[in-house]
Amino acid sequence: MTKDSLPPILDACCGGKMFWFDKDNPYVLFQDIRCADMVLCDGRKFSVKPDVIADFTSMPYHDNSFRMVVFDPPHLKYTGRKKEVSSWQMKKYGWLPAHGWEDIIRKGFAECFRVLMPGGFLILKWNETDIPVSRILELTPPHHMRPLFGHLSGKLSKTHWICFMKESDEADGTSPIVKTKNNQ
Ligand SMILES: C[S@@+](CC[C@H](N)C(=O)[O-])C[C@H]1O[C@@H](n2cnc3c(N)ncnc32)[C@H](O)[C@@H]1O
Repeated sequence: MTKDSLPPILDACCGGKMFWFDKDNPYVLFQDIRCADMVLCDGRKFSVKPDVIADFTSMPYHDNSFRMVVFDPPHLKYTGRKKEVSSWQMKKYGWLPAHGWEDIIRKGFAECFRVLMPGGFLILKWNETDIPVSRILELTPPHHMRPLFGHLSGKLSKTHWICFMKESDEADGTSPIVKTKNNQ
């Protein structure tokens, strides 16, 4: 896909697009690793209808393609119990393997930042049911990708929303694209 043909926002793993006000928003490229159409245990219909089927650990876009990337990866760990696979949460949100999940999330972050333009924003949503957010933040790329601010939500305050900016590659903030207030 060429950069010119892409909308400004990528949702890297859109699932059922539950948090989008407009699930057909033309400014957003919706991506997921699957398409799905199912009925959940409480009778509700659930579907995953991405624009692009792709893996967030290896995405088919050029570097610096999007102004914003939204990253809400699976947060539940699958340990092999039958009960887990049939749970509505795993059907809806997917799951991470109990071993090796760190590598998946690390590669996902690296890809999200690769396809983000310098000065662009990454919005991470993470629920701490199985894995604390501190473990996830350790998996962000080391250079110039510090979290800016965040907010906790949900009944048990276990869901974190965290905003990052793709900073300049130059540590002194002299990039022509991303300036700091000290280098005007
Ligand atoms: C927590 S859900 C996303 C929920 C979504 N944000 C919403 O508002 O409904 C995580 C999604 O990540 C998808 N997913 C899991 N592994 C993926 C991968 N490697 N690449 C892309 N999507 C993946 C799952 O299929 C699942 O739909």
